[in-house]
Amino acid sequence: MFHARLSISRDDIVAPVSPRLFGSFVEHMGRSVYTGIYEPGHPTATADGFRQDVLDLVRELNPSLIRYPGGNFVSGFRWEDSVGPDRPTRLDVAWHSVETNEVGLHEFADWAESAGVEIMQAVNLGTRGIAEAAALLEYSNHPAGTALSGQRQANGRTEPFGIRVWCLGNEMDGPWQIGHKTAEEYGRLAAETARVMKWVDPTIELVVAGSSNAEMPTFGSWERTVLEHTAELVDHISLHAYYEEKPGDLGSFLASGVGLDRFIGDVAQIIDEVTVAQGLDKSIGISVDEWNVWYQTRFNEVDKEPLFTGDWNTQPRLIEDEYNVSDAVVVGSLLISLLRNSDRVSMANLAQLVNVIAPIRSEPSGPAWRQTTFFPFALTATAAHGDVLAATIHSDTYDTREHGTVDLSDAAVTATDEEIVLFLVNRSSSDPLTLEVDLAGAPADSVLSAQSLFAPEGGDRFATNTVDHQDTVHPVDLTDVTLADDGTAATVVLPALSWSIVRLAAKAAA
Ligand code: AHR
Repeated sequence: MFHARLSISRDDIVAPVSPRLFGSFVEHMGRSVYTGIYEPGHPTATADGFRQDVLDLVRELNPSLIRYPGGNFVSGFRWEDSVGPDRPTRLDVAWHSVETNEVGLHEFADWAESAGVEIMQAVNLGTRGIAEAAALLEYSNHPAGTALSGQRQANGRTEPFGIRVWCLGNEMDGPWQIGHKTAEEYGRLAAETARVMKWVDPTIELVVAGSSNAEMPTFGSWERTVLEHTAELVDHISLHAYYEEKPGDLGSFLASGVGLDRFIGDVAQIIDEVTVAQGLDKSIGISVDEWNVWYQTRFNEVDKEPLFTGDWNTQPRLIEDEYNVSDAVVVGSLLISLLRNSDRVSMANLAQLVNVIAPIRSEPSGPAWRQTTFFPFALTATAAHGDVLAATIHSDTYDTREHGTVDLSDAAVTATDEEIVLFLVNRSSSDPLTLEVDLAGAPADSVLSAQSLFAPEGGDRFATNTVDHQDTVHPVDLTDVTLADDGTAATVVLPALSWSIVRLAAKAAA
C-alpha cells in the first residue's frame, strides 16, 4: 500500500473554474462528421440527418465549446464551399480524403446549438489569408446590410452566428501542414489577419497558433517570434499535446500530466517575457486546443503510408484509436493538470469528439458507445464548478524515464459553497494508495458520491469498450472513503492504476 497526503484550503484559490476548459473538437476528418455526428438514414437520424444516439452521448459528455472544422483540414479549406445550395466535392489533401461539404457552417451551427456547445471557429491561414478570414467572419457575425451578411440570411440564418472564439490557422509550425510557414512568416500573417478581423468584429477573441508539440525543434523560439508580432492583437496562444504509451514505459505515460504541466509553464513564461518586454498590460491565455492520448507513432510509422497512397474516400477510418484503462487514467490526470493550471489555461479541447481519437465511437448504421476515456472527461466536466483550490500533495514517488521522479498520486480540487470535489489519480500499476485529505481549511459534512475507474475484474489494464462489448470498462462506486466526525479530514483508498472523483458536501460557513 502506498501513501499520500493532500491538503486544501478555501483561502488558496488558483482561479475560477472555466467551463471552456472542457472543450472538444470536430474536424472534417475520417468519420468524425460523416457517420460520426451526421448520418442521414441512420435509425436514430434526426430530420436534418444528425445522429440522435451520438448527440445524446455528446450531451452526457458535456463539452462546452467545440473547435471546428480542423485541424490540418482547415489549412486547405474553402469555407464558401460549405454554405449555400451548391456544395462542391473537393479533395482534402491533408487527410487524403474526399470532402462532400454536405455538412457546413449552417448545419454544424444548428447541431452545436442542439448540443448546447459554443463554436470555436478556425480560419485557413495555410492556402488562404486575410481576405478570406475577414469574409468568413463578416458572413458569420455581421448583423445585416452587406453582401456577405445578406448571403448568410439568404442561406437561412437571419441572426448572426455570433461566434466569439477564432483560431488563426492550425499548427503552422509543422512541415505536415498545408501552407506550413516559418515563425516570422506566420507571425506577420497572423498579426495582419488579427488586425482586420478585430476591425470587422471587435468583440471576438483570437487564438494565435503556438507549437504543435513540446518536441518541435522550433518550440520556444516559435512562440517568442509569433508573440512578438501578435501579442498586442491576440487573446490566447495555442498549445497542442498528445501522449502515448511507448513500449516498456508505462511509468512515463502515466506521468504525462507532469509533461503537460511543464509545457504550460514554459509557454506561460514566454508570454510573460514578451508582454513585459512590450509593456503590455494584458494577459494572454493558453488555449490547449488539442490534447489527448493518441497512438501517433503507430499512425506515422504503420497506418499513414498505405492510407495516403490508397484510394480517396469520403469517410475513411482514420486514427480510430481504441482506448484502454491506462489511457483513461492518463486522460483523467491530464484534466487534473488543466485544472491545476487554470490560472494560465484559458480553454482546452479534447481532440477529438467522435470516432477520430475520440471518447465517443459510432458504427455506420450501428450503435454509438462510450470509450474508456469518456468517463473521466464527462465526470470532470459535469462536477467541476466554482473555484479551483490549490492542492498540495506529499506522496510516495516512483522514477520515470521521461519525467524523473514523480509523485504516485496527483489531485485537483474544485469548490463551491455547497460542494468540494476531489479529482484523484493513483499512478501505481501494482498497489492501492491511501490518501489522507486534510480538510481543516475546507471542512465537509458528508460524502455525496465517490467513483473510480480502474481495471475491471481480472485486472486487465488493456481492457477496452468495443462495438461488441460496449460496457466492459466503466466507473464503479468507491467504498473505501471515510470522513472524520468533525469533517476536517478524510481518507480515500485509491485502487491501483485508477482515476477517481469524490464529491463532498461542504460544511456551511459558521
Ligand atoms: O487531431 C488530429 C490532428 O492532429 C489535427 O488535424 C492536427 O491539428 C493535429 O496534428
